[in-house]
Amino acid sequence: MSTDPPLPVVVLISGEGTNLQALIDAIQNDLANYAIVAVFSDRADARGLERARKAGIPAHHVDPSSYSSRETFDQALADAIYQYEPGLLVLAGFMRILSPGFVARFADRILNIHPSLLPKFKGLRTHQRALAAAETEHGATVHFVTAELDGGPAVIQYRIRVGETETEDSLSARVHQGEYIILPRAVGLFAEGRLRLESGRAILDGEALQAPARVNGE
Ligand code: GAR
Repeated sequence: MSTDPPLPVVVLISGEGTNLQALIDAIQNDLANYAIVAVFSDRADARGLERARKAGIPAHHVDPSSYSSRETFDQALADAIYQYEPGLLVLAGFMRILSPGFVARFADRILNIHPSLLPKFKGLRTHQRALAAAETEHGATVHFVTAELDGGPAVIQYRIRVGETETEDSLSARVHQGEYIILPRAVGLFAEGRLRLESGRAILDGEALQAPARVNGE
């Protein structure tokens, strides 16, 4: 691990926050070169808020229903995040679409984890849709966020073979295990300065990625 000061990271969540937990665990195990300076949720009941507080991280709920439009909510959220001067924003199960204005304010420094092998299955219910399509492979992707939903350059993918007796639940559980590997890895690479977004392309160790790095799962 480098001796540089850790990269300040803000994490956005909407639910359980098990991916947030994986990021926290990496810090607590002294494996991380980033610090989570704040967590924001659009839902008051997100369990991830408790996880953050337990780890001593400021945790905030910004309520979309208090704002008249997506743009005004996004602006309030962005203003609140700005106070923490993050070097990176991580969407870890944040279930709202961010407006282009929000994305532009944090240009080139937002990572998202998505539960499919992008570009397949953008959007919701990815496990159900992968099963319905009789996919033999499925997984998760960490990608840079651009104004296009689930469309920014992919950085790293976790891949598993879909079993014959697989259900949506079993697939979700298996994919989650892989997310806990690839999300801290991508955040770590960004924090080390090895990963960046430049002219719309993901650059790893100075080379434009032709395809996302790949982690094969069980
Ligand atoms: C994760 O599987 C993540 O990939 C997904 O939400 C889950 C959050 O779980 N994200 C999306 O679907 C974004 N479109 P967690 O709250 O336990 O980390």
